Amino acid sequence: MEHAFTVRQAELGDINDIIKINRLCLPENYSFDFFYKILSENGFACSVGEDNGKTIGYSLSRIERPFSSFLGLNPSKGHIISIAVLPEYRRKGYGLEIMKYGMQKLIEHNVESIYLEVRVSNVAAVEMYKKLGYYIKKEYKQYYRDGESAFVMEWGRKKPTEST
Ligand SMILES: CC(C)(COP(=O)(O)OP(=O)(O)OC[C@H]1O[C@@H](n2cnc3c(N)ncnc32)[C@H](O)[C@@H]1OP(=O)(O)O)[C@@H](O)C(=O)NCCC(=O)NCCS
Repeated sequence: MEHAFTVRQAELGDINDIIKINRLCLPENYSFDFFYKILSENGFACSVGEDNGKTIGYSLSRIERPFSSFLGLNPSKGHIISIAVLPEYRRKGYGLEIMKYGMQKLIEHNVESIYLEVRVSNVAAVEMYKKLGYYIKKEYKQYYRDGESAFVMEWGRKKPTEST
């Protein structure tokens, strides 16, 4: 069958699909209330991908504004909280498109940079983020409950002078 893929802003009505995909694809799961809060407060930067009308992936992001950002000191940052694509729909470029949608919205809202945490063993995600211009900024040792470390990866309007 021909694949017709589209990405659109996530709505509150997508919450059950998003939770289902999250539980299927990631060990990092959240409460219904957490998803609800992100979608209600930052829905503009959250997206779902649909293949022939079926929801097959999502990304959740938010804008984080330190108090000092109101004084023009620390600029606001975008945070990619979670992204996943159902296993049978991977390696078709859908993950990239879903990410690009959310990033574009964050950039339109004037964030200076966007960051995310990813398991150091998650080659697929790390490679996808590199393709989008993210670099490894630092490592948090034993960040996850099971003891695995996380890379903090960042995308910035200004490119870092050196990358790891
Ligand atoms: C990470 C994830 C979202 C990627 O989704 P996807 O739709 O398969 O990604 P794409 O097809 O857009 O791939 C984009 C690029 O990422 C890289 N990539 C994706 N999967 C990869 C893999 N298994 N191994 C190596 N590189 C990979 C490649 O550079 C790829 O480009 P290419 O296919 O032209 O080589 C998906 O693997 C997933 O849902 N994983 C489980 C959830 C997860 O780990 N989320 C991230 C948490 S931080």
